[in-house]
Amino acid sequence: MNNIDVLLGLQWGDEGKGKVVDVLTPHYDIIARFNGGPNAGHTLEFNGMKHVLRTIPSGICHKDKTNVIGNGVLIEPNIFMQEIKSLQDKGFNPQDNLLISRKAHLILPTHRLTDAANEKSKGDRKIGSTLKGIGPAYTDKIARTGLRVGDLSAKDFDAKYNALKNLHIRHIESLGYKAEDFLIEEKTLAQYEQLWMQAAEELKKLQIIDTEYFINENLQQGKKILAEGAQGTMLDIDFGSYPFVTSSSTVTAGVCSGLGVAPQNIGRVFGIVKAYCTRVGSGPFPTELFDKTGEELCEKGHEFGSVTGRKRRCGWLDMPALKYACMINGVTDLMLMKIDVMDSFDKVKICTGYIMEGNKTEKLPYNMEREIVPVFEEFDGWKQDVSKTKHYEDLPLQMQTYIQAIERMTSLPVSMVSVSPDRNDTIIRN
Ligand code: GDP
Ligand code: IMO
Ligand code: MG
Repeated sequence: MNNIDVLLGLQWGDEGKGKVVDVLTPHYDIIARFNGGPNAGHTLEFNGMKHVLRTIPSGICHKDKTNVIGNGVLIEPNIFMQEIKSLQDKGFNPQDNLLISRKAHLILPTHRLTDAANEKSKGDRKIGSTLKGIGPAYTDKIARTGLRVGDLSAKDFDAKYNALKNLHIRHIESLGYKAEDFLIEEKTLAQYEQLWMQAAEELKKLQIIDTEYFINENLQQGKKILAEGAQGTMLDIDFGSYPFVTSSSTVTAGVCSGLGVAPQNIGRVFGIVKAYCTRVGSGPFPTELFDKTGEELCEKGHEFGSVTGRKRRCGWLDMPALKYACMINGVTDLMLMKIDVMDSFDKVKICTGYIMEGNKTEKLPYNMEREIVPVFEEFDGWKQDVSKTKHYEDLPLQMQTYIQAIERMTSLPVSMVSVSPDRNDTIIRN
């Protein structure tokens, strides 16, 4: 029996997971998503084209590879079918190499209204959700009131749908709002429901299977499988900066529950890490920069959300958070992304610890909202364009020193260095 390799984000999402999955796909037979849903935006760039994937795994542009959407993922039929159509328009045939779990939960239009109502009711304490209905849909899953892809074919689907919809409307009213107070993608609930129902009919025609059998049988047959995470460890429901997190398990443990794989069948764990940090939405961010350097990271790194277009907050690499993420996930290899963004900097910094109430620690506090003063180690910049460098040895020595510092601090190898958004601009060391 083969083990399943795992690839996931170690920060607050948008580390560049999509690019790395696309680069690694030729080495695998199957790529499988295990968590999240259309809150994700995974970008692939090749042949001068850019593709942003939401719910579909990032191996989809390789026609001979199978892509799987596991039971841990949420599907919003209208967004999902738009994603399918946009791939078809670009000449891909996702309907042929995509398998969907019957057990994946559905995001209903009223989940999206509930998301908007919940956020509004929180005022200043809002999470900064992508408003795709993620929190409310996972809430129903855990409350055992959710609807799954397999339910779309049930005779009593309409009755189940209406019962859940009414529950959501009552919840929205309990917050002091009406469903009509909110729009979904500029449409009223009735208008959006029509699109959703049409899309759900289309979705039913795709390959819907028991993916847990498929994954385990293929591992048994010696096939190579890569699990693709969405979001990042600092957004994990248990280990992220709660409550400013997403509602799924974004860590390695999520692969077991989100695909039905036993823990002893987890293989290598590739941790994707940006050479600096970004965060979109609210919540604590100890190394956030509010100065010109932060602006430069944002501008040079094009740090705008691939889903919502929101500006991403930027800051230096946070080692306590990174080490925590490596520990929780059992990371075996680091993949370092977007180091080219810092090409013109005179100095670059890594936060090596936090000072809280006068005491220095390298551990994350229970409450990350308290006052945290980051302690930095400073490195010389390399002042050189590295985006076309093909071999590790040819990278500037100052950059190699920065990379070695990350390896030393995490006790992990940096097995890949990414130097541009393009598939080809990737240095693989190991
Ligand atoms: P994901 O959610 O983890 O897949 O990441 P996103 O796609 O949301 O955000 C990463 C962004 O950085 C995308 O626009 C990528 O095209 C881009 N990107 C990925 N790797 C690199 C890199 O090494 N250098 C630069 N400059 N951009 C990169
Ligand atoms: P990928 O997979 C970055 C953030 C949102 C918000 C919080 C909760 O592209 O890395 P949600 O819609 O899940 O209720 O939002 O999590 N968030 C992400 N930030 N990348 C993502 O995905 C994200 N998915 C959710 O901005 O702060
Ligand atoms: Mg993203």
